[in-house]
Amino acid sequence: MDKLIIRGGLPLKGEVAISGAKNAALPIMAASLLSSGVHTIRHIPKLRDVITMGKILTNMGLNVAFENGNVSINSSSVSNFEAPYDLVKTMRASVLVLCPLVARFGRARVSLPGGCAIGARPINLHLMGLEKMGAKIELEEGYVVATAGRLKGASIYFDIPTVTGTENLMMAAAIAQGTTILENAAREPEVIDLANCLISMGAKIKGAGESLIEIEGVDELKPIRDYPVIPDRIETATFISIAGITGGDLTLTGCRPAHIDAMIMKLRDAGLVFEITEDSMRVKGPDRPIAKDAKTQPYPGFPTDMQAQFMSLMSIADGTSVIKETIFENRFMHVAELKRMGADIMIEGGTATVKGVRRLKGAHVMATDLRASASLVVAALKAEGESTIHRIYHLDRGYEQMDEKLRKIGAQISREKDSA
Ligand code: EPZ
Repeated sequence: MDKLIIRGGLPLKGEVAISGAKNAALPIMAASLLSSGVHTIRHIPKLRDVITMGKILTNMGLNVAFENGNVSINSSSVSNFEAPYDLVKTMRASVLVLCPLVARFGRARVSLPGGCAIGARPINLHLMGLEKMGAKIELEEGYVVATAGRLKGASIYFDIPTVTGTENLMMAAAIAQGTTILENAAREPEVIDLANCLISMGAKIKGAGESLIEIEGVDELKPIRDYPVIPDRIETATFISIAGITGGDLTLTGCRPAHIDAMIMKLRDAGLVFEITEDSMRVKGPDRPIAKDAKTQPYPGFPTDMQAQFMSLMSIADGTSVIKETIFENRFMHVAELKRMGADIMIEGGTATVKGVRRLKGAHVMATDLRASASLVVAALKAEGESTIHRIYHLDRGYEQMDEKLRKIGAQISREKDSA
């Protein structure tokens, strides 16, 4: 295990190249199961979760090769239809192979993801939709065992707009017989990116990005040809928080500002200054941000994946910020660690009240989940003195070369083996 050692207090300045979106790359890699041939996908971030998805596909007999930020996947010979527990337990998004496997091969044995630090995160809505399309679903020794003939189009209503649930069933519907309607579908940019990739394979999809998506099943799809994954909007917003908290001046290139409108509006109100173009932005942080409230919502609302990083920024803001987490039931595990650094935060149920303090002090802290680890990096870059962030494998799951990118803009940061 590694740890990051950060000496905070410096305004960070310079240019950051934003990587491809982890949460678009994962479903698009899974989509390679939907048709036989050699698929090529560009702008793939080299991070732990993407490598895990590669292992899961390799384990099924596909040939996966990462090279220069792209990946090629040969899905001509799939020899088994299982996603094993030892891989799925490290990445819940593994469930994204379930529907493509059942749609193309009529069978799948995918481990239930098990618990997760930020919440129960069931997959009942994925399974409900698959059953409606004609699959038989059994639970056996912690695995979902699904079998089907050719899936049939169906009308599926999601009680909750689930991102990977929408993506999973969109993939199933793409080669089902007949038309599928997904109602109360997730509207995230990553859902749209998957839809655009499926359309490039020959799928017939209307309404991706809206709450109602219509998919007319086709008999066969072509392989993915050089599809470029969208920029990572959460990485973008994380670096915006870093400019905000350090009073820095960062230029973020290869990003998509339009995907984080809600965030930008909130942070502009908090005193950050933006110069925005279609695929880049310059962000200047204020001497001290102004406290603003936030409430996480499904897209296009304030993203839950930015709640922890925003809380770090608010921990040194002028005033009090009330942050409500409405998506996951336990996504405040960064709070205890931020308090070790001197933050003044009180939690009541899904609401955190953050009283801005003048300064944070470096401390030993522990990463607990992906975005919590990002929030600790954001705070440590501001804190006086040295912080050590333990268990940063959480960070490595979702950020490509975060420490290198930070060093390039002046951060005093080093990665070391962690004996703790
Ligand atoms: C996706 O997870 C993202 N992961 C998460 O990003 C993100 O936090 C989340 O969407 C919300 O935006 C990927 O895209 C790989 P959901 P997902 O299904 O699809 C409940 C990160 O940091 N629900 O949209 O698993 C669920 O419990 C990760 O990159 C059900 O009840 O999230 C949650 O309360 C963390 N039954 C809510 O819906 C279901 O069948 C939203 O979950 C499915 C979900």
